[in-house]
Amino acid sequence: MLRGKFLTIEGTEGVGKSTNLAFVRDWLQAKGIEVVVTREPGGTPLAEEIRSLLLAKRDESVDETAELLLIFAARAQHIAQVIQPALARGAWVLSDRFTDATYAYQGGGRGLSTNIITQLEQLVQGDLRPDLTFILDIDVELGLNRARQRGELDRFESETMAFFERVRCAYRARAEQTPSRYALVNAGQELAAVQADLRLILATLVSGDGV
Ligand SMILES: Nc1ncnc2c1ncn2[C@@H]1O[C@H](COP(=O)(O)OP(=O)(O)OP(=O)(O)O)[C@@H](O)[C@H]1O
Ligand SMILES: [Mg+2]
Repeated sequence: MLRGKFLTIEGTEGVGKSTNLAFVRDWLQAKGIEVVVTREPGGTPLAEEIRSLLLAKRDESVDETAELLLIFAARAQHIAQVIQPALARGAWVLSDRFTDATYAYQGGGRGLSTNIITQLEQLVQGDLRPDLTFILDIDVELGLNRARQRGELDRFESETMAFFERVRCAYRARAEQTPSRYALVNAGQELAAVQADLRLILATLVSGDGV
């Protein structure tokens, strides 16, 4: 059995990750591919509990290293319970965020050492990396306005504009560094145009895979 592909969708708040994740899932399923849809932080009951801890607004300030370790703890559980078993049986895995978000938010946004993130990535993931990561790129303010329309903001969404500018910048830098592993998509376009771009990328991916 051929190992499935691991795809992730990334971007700042409200950029359209969840909306386009459903689009990518439907597109792949129409090609007869089994798709496991999941998200980070989260994806298993334990990891979802850690997600709630991470997103809750609290009076106590959250130590940045504690935050980083909680994220990787959730990730270890997610990989063991969901991602590896699915890939091993030949399913494709589509995740709403993964480790690129850690480089972007904790690395770019909070200024934590990239080197430490890389060490944790190695510890928790071994060789596991996404085959392709869609980075939905948008003007930060435009994305936040979309997120705000959905109601109250969580602990991350309540960060400053400068924080999100650094997050966006870190995502773009990663895409530039390793272009073969990323598809940078202009998410400021109307949805139909974003999805036309996604369709082209998916067609190339699937034809390259002989599906
Ligand atoms: N290209 C687009 N043009 C206009 N509105 C869009 C576009 N893409 C998504 N939206 C709308 O923006 C809002 C946020 O989209 P979505 O929930 O998919 O973003 P997200 O990246 O998953 O957000 P979060 O980071 O909060 O999970 C939704 O109301 C969605 O319908
Ligand atoms: Mg979402």
